[in-house]
Amino acid sequence: MDLKINGANHQVDVPDDMPLLWVIRDVLGMTGTKFGCGIAQCGACTVHVDGIAIRSCQLPVGTVGGRAITTIEGIGDTSAGAKIQKAWIELEVIQCGYCQPGQIMSAAALLAANPQPDDDAIDAAMAGNLCRCGTYVRIREGIKHAARA
Ligand code: FES
Ligand code: FES
Repeated sequence: MDLKINGANHQVDVPDDMPLLWVIRDVLGMTGTKFGCGIAQCGACTVHVDGIAIRSCQLPVGTVGGRAITTIEGIGDTSAGAKIQKAWIELEVIQCGYCQPGQIMSAAALLAANPQPDDDAIDAAMAGNLCRCGTYVRIREGIKHAARA
């Protein structure tokens, strides 16, 4: 099957029902996207498919052939992603870091769709991304910081 990830084409020989997360990490070796719960509950595995933030741990790879997949390795090449990453560094949003690729992917999708999100929009967009270090307040500030950039 042909996959387009971060603008590059990849050919993979995998079962159609293998979760996209497995293909990204274990077959293609792109380990920025994290495994957390495996049941679409934590957001650690968030990637973009055609610009939409999606949980890759429950997404069969057979459903995304020919679609534009973006991972944390490529999000900095987008306008919204670059702003989010810069804000994350400037505000030192990250603690342990494990959840943060997923947080950044959800935040970048929000900012691309809504360049000036209010608190309610931020909370709604980020509700599916859990952080055991409790960085939620800095994540919200980081998104606002990026929106002002
Ligand atoms: S690992 Fe996919 S949502 Fe938790
Ligand atoms: S920064 Fe540690 S889980 Fe979020």
